[in-house]
Amino acid sequence: MQSLPETGPVRFREVLSHFASGVVVVTAVVDGTPLGLTCQSFTSLSLDPPLVLFCPAKTSRSWPLVSQAPHLCINVLSTEQQALSDAFARSGSDKFAGVDWSPTPAGAPALAGAHAHLEASVRDVFEGGDHWIVTCTVSALDAAPDLAPLLYYRSSYRALGEGGPARV
Ligand SMILES: Cc1cc2nc3c(=O)[nH]c(=O)nc-3n(C[C@H](O)[C@H](O)[C@H](O)COP(=O)(O)O)c2cc1C
Repeated sequence: MQSLPETGPVRFREVLSHFASGVVVVTAVVDGTPLGLTCQSFTSLSLDPPLVLFCPAKTSRSWPLVSQAPHLCINVLSTEQQALSDAFARSGSDKFAGVDWSPTPAGAPALAGAHAHLEASVRDVFEGGDHWIVTCTVSALDAAPDLAPLLYYRSSYRALGEGGPARV
């Protein structure tokens, strides 16, 4: 094992990429405009109360706006949605151009074709180095069990496959 100071951030990031995860897009409507950003740093936090968390970078231009919205939607992406994932990762672009969505009960954008949706509201925001740690209370949810999850592993999109996560 190498000590981190010797290896530096590139190696740190490379080793972290060995942790496979799903991909979510966090969306909200702010002043009538839908906004969002792609996140891999999403996890369930608590069952009772129903809490989840995600970690937006302090450099994000969308998060300061999205954080003002009373309600968010956490969209768990499905296998066919890697283009959507990339679109919501492009800072400064019109991320919702051509994107099909419908409002959650409280009006946050639920992306069509997602594997699951969680409507939530921000509970706490904690400082976490170059990112924020955002905890949210879930207020509504649904899932599409006939779809499959989009995975992200070693810096590329993957899909569940018989022989393990296959590139998509
Ligand atoms: C697969 C994937 C996972 C990502 N995960 C995160 C994340 O967990 N946290 C984060 O801040 N940015 C993450 N990003 C990058 C953001 O999506 C991107 O920096 C952001 O959307 C830029 O737009 P903004 O400036 O409008 O926020 C990820 C990007 C991709 C493609």
